[in-house]
Amino acid sequence: MKHLLFLLLLSSTVFAQSENEYNLIPFPARFSGQNGQFSLSATTRIVVSDPTVKAVAQTFASQVKAATGITLTVASASPALAKGANIFFTLNKKLTLGDEGYKLTVTPTRVLAEASTPKGLFYAAQTIRQLIPAGASSTAALPACAITDKPRFGYRGLMLDVGRHFMPVAFVKKFIDLMAMHKQNTFHWHLTEDQGWRIEIKKYPKLTQIGSKRAESIVGQYYQNYPQQFDGKPVSGFYTQEEIKDVVRYAQSRFVTIIPEIEMPGHAQAALAAYPELGCDPAKGYQVFTKWGVSEDVYCPSEKTFTFLQDVLTEVIALFPGKYIHIGGDECPKTAWKQSAFCQELMKKNNLKDEHELQSYFIRRVEKFLNSKGRSIIGWDEILEGGLAPNATVMSWRGTEGGIAAAKQKHNVIMTPGGTCYLDHYQGNPATEPLAIGGYLPLDKVYGYEPMPTELTDAEQKYVLGVQGNIWTEYMPTSESVEYMAFPRAIALAEIGWMQAGTHNFEDFSQRLKNHLPRLKNVNYAKRLFDITASTQAGDQGQIQVVLKKLDSDSRIVYTTNGKEPNEQSPEYIGPITLTKTTTIRAKTWTGGQPTGGQLTQTFVLHKGKNKPYTYGTPLDKYSDPKSSKLTDGVRGDTPRSRQEWVNVYGNDMDVTLDLGNVTSVTKVSLNFLKVILEKGFPPKSVEIALSKDGSDFKEAIAQPVVYELNGPWAILPVVADFKTARARYVRIRAKNAGVCPPEHPNAGEKTWFSIDEIVVE
Ligand code: ACM
Repeated sequence: MKHLLFLLLLSSTVFAQSENEYNLIPFPARFSGQNGQFSLSATTRIVVSDPTVKAVAQTFASQVKAATGITLTVASASPALAKGANIFFTLNKKLTLGDEGYKLTVTPTRVLAEASTPKGLFYAAQTIRQLIPAGASSTAALPACAITDKPRFGYRGLMLDVGRHFMPVAFVKKFIDLMAMHKQNTFHWHLTEDQGWRIEIKKYPKLTQIGSKRAESIVGQYYQNYPQQFDGKPVSGFYTQEEIKDVVRYAQSRFVTIIPEIEMPGHAQAALAAYPELGCDPAKGYQVFTKWGVSEDVYCPSEKTFTFLQDVLTEVIALFPGKYIHIGGDECPKTAWKQSAFCQELMKKNNLKDEHELQSYFIRRVEKFLNSKGRSIIGWDEILEGGLAPNATVMSWRGTEGGIAAAKQKHNVIMTPGGTCYLDHYQGNPATEPLAIGGYLPLDKVYGYEPMPTELTDAEQKYVLGVQGNIWTEYMPTSESVEYMAFPRAIALAEIGWMQAGTHNFEDFSQRLKNHLPRLKNVNYAKRLFDITASTQAGDQGQIQVVLKKLDSDSRIVYTTNGKEPNEQSPEYIGPITLTKTTTIRAKTWTGGQPTGGQLTQTFVLHKGKNKPYTYGTPLDKYSDPKSSKLTDGVRGDTPRSRQEWVNVYGNDMDVTLDLGNVTSVTKVSLNFLKVILEKGFPPKSVEIALSKDGSDFKEAIAQPVVYELNGPWAILPVVADFKTARARYVRIRAKNAGVCPPEHPNAGEKTWFSIDEIVVE
């Protein structure tokens, strides 16, 4: 009985007290599922109460046409149509659901959408769009229901970086439509970068003639090769002003506001390549940046620069009708300003105590200009550093601290912390996912994000306008790769932004999402929701058993234990897999003759040290190995792409002793070290592995250097000590730090670090 109740609760939003299924995302605030269906077909009219909602009805009709092929006709209200089995879009000024709220009633005889604004009706229409079953064509049965809905946050955004890689207009529109489908209302368009300027500015044609083109890009991940390798392939692209107007109109038809971002004072190298006089060292020969990361060449805070930016912003204002202009403000190295006599003089003249205050002087001047044109600025949280501009809104990206500080200063805030909102991070196993910048942000972690910081009082909370996901495209060269990284994680953020706090749970969301995803026709969304997860349990003879699970009940699991790719002929998973030795399990979900996208590749390391305690001779910092368990958790670091499973030792030697609990035979001890030279990750100079029965008398087993080539790709370097017949209770590892980076290294003289994954004892 208890179990049944639990199941009912879990599936409450999907089935919601009726025979019908509802896979709505975001799920409405008040919802009542009912029996029966409304039959949608080419004879259905969209009846509008008012000419001002005709455009909403037409947009909705075009969305239905694209999804199902059904052509719906828009008609004005009339007594004859009032009685028909139609969809009614009715403006009702008496509703008090805010400008985005709506009521929707679907019965077998009609569909009634009501809102006090066209925008509210548009959101009702998006809900109707999601009531249409995936795969419907020519007719569609809409499940009956009664909905009263409105959002939690007024700002629900996504940012797309088109600076690192240009994305075509058709894709930008598709992206905006996907946002609108999930009731997101703000598209932050990151239009300028070190690596490319993407917006036509009539007064400064070289911005696109020169600034929109870079010669090449880095091969692989930023730190992958030492020295960095380049691909020799030019990257270019920009939007004409006509194209931008077209995109703005398209977004308006979907009630999406576009916030253009023109980066300053940093991330401006492409602009300096076009107009070198805007930098502090015009003779330097600025080029559009071919590396990722942060360029030290930034705008000089000269009158020339302010005139240029005012001219650029004047054209930007004319193109984008929204209230906000994003001025960047993040990651502006102060090197060039420190070296510039002009900047130092300017600081003295204006009583600015450091370069952070100079940056605030810069941002305040630009804010003043934009405020004088009736616009407001948004900046990344670095704009707090030298003092906030008076009316600025802050985007909190380096964690939540910036957002909290800004709200406490009574400034508006948008929450987009890297750990939960950066959709450029890995969403599945980094070893098998497409190359990404790093990190690890699976769907459930995105969904678990609560945007309202608990540190804020009720009065301060009102400054938090909402939440945004960011898509930085260094490692997304195509629109398909953007789709893969953005979806479905952006949909999780859409629900977080819309639903009230505490009304949602991941199980329920993932069930709705699974049935919703087929509606995303021609979208290359990631199938990680369907991934297989593994856990271990002890068998009745103490063996290790691996249990595989999947969310997708419609498919079966096939797997291999020999490292080969599973296929239809591979064994099907029917129960726990018993392991007798270290094994890599590869598994896939399969339906009929087709893989369905779920996958697992995981190595289970069976060894005597697993879960055994260890202690450090010299303690590591708490971030490296907080619970002292990573070195014996049975999980090896299987790729340099992710540092999740690695213990990092910064600038120090390591001295660690593992206690096996009693004296036992030890035949082999093995460890891996990372080599990531460009990132200062040098394997240790030497490694000594020693054994002891009593913990004080250690017999040296091996002491040897880790041999590697400095140049070349990152690598995992194994160190193995073979003991023929040793017996021991304690295993001690001493590893010597490689010292400082050598003279030819970009970080010459700086301390190095090394990483170790697991102490494997056999
Ligand atoms: C940022 O990620 N630099 C805002």
